[in-house]
Amino acid sequence: MSYIEVIHETKRYKTGDTVIAANNDVNFTVERGELAVILGASGAGKSTMLNILGGMDTCSEGQVIIDGHDIAQYSAKERVTYRRHDVGFVFQFYNLVPSLTARENVELASQIVQDSADPTETLISVGLGKRLDSFPAQLSGGEQQRVAIARAVAKNPKILLCDEPTGALDYNTGKQVLRILQDMSRVHGATVVIVTHNAAIAPIADRVIHMHDARVQRIEENANPTDIDDIEW
Ligand SMILES: Nc1ncnc2c1ncn2[C@@H]1O[C@H](COP(=O)(O)OP(=O)(O)OP(=O)(O)O)[C@@H](O)[C@H]1O
Ligand SMILES: [Mg+2]
Repeated sequence: MSYIEVIHETKRYKTGDTVIAANNDVNFTVERGELAVILGASGAGKSTMLNILGGMDTCSEGQVIIDGHDIAQYSAKERVTYRRHDVGFVFQFYNLVPSLTARENVELASQIVQDSADPTETLISVGLGKRLDSFPAQLSGGEQQRVAIARAVAKNPKILLCDEPTGALDYNTGKQVLRILQDMSRVHGATVVIVTHNAAIAPIADRVIHMHDARVQRIEENANPTDIDDIEW
């Protein structure tokens, strides 16, 4: 059985009288320890899918099986436990706690799990060794994004879900972050899912799930992912 199995998953949003299907009969699998990229244009339904995989949101129909458990059937309480222990999540818009420093934001996440990585070391690995005591408002967008990545990675999660993790980063910092995310799968065995609209990132993935208009258009398996040093955007 695959680590992630999404089966006939549909998510509808109701606003007034209109109903939008943000995910429409989505099907895909991701193997344990793989790095998968969900690629698609703005509005394709990528964040919706990632939020459902991370137990932040629930689908309207279908199955979302993670490590043999259908999280679509979970109660709110079971979802909290799943999010807390299994999931590292990098939000598209960071979601840092404004009143905590970079280090405290990472500690907040690492403290709730047992096998966490050292918060300071993790911040150093994303190039923020000199900004440990800065508050989010004192950091640039790209720096805040890296704190968000450190926060997710420091939990040593079984499943690492990243929404546009390089969106606010320059070329070199973006590559540095992708290397950390790839190491999470290659070295630590985490199953990593990256959502992006940037097609240049796709070649580093073991699997690319192309989304278009709320559906999966096609899936590519990549036996020989490209080295991060060899991609360009
Ligand atoms: N809470 C919500 N209420 C109503 N509609 C929503 C909600 N969240 C998302 N949608 C709609 O669902 C569709 C998919 O949104 P989603 O955020 O998943 O797209 P995306 O692929 O992540 O786009 P982007 O690349 O711009 O982040 C969009 O049409 C969006 O307007
Ligand atoms: Mg999005």
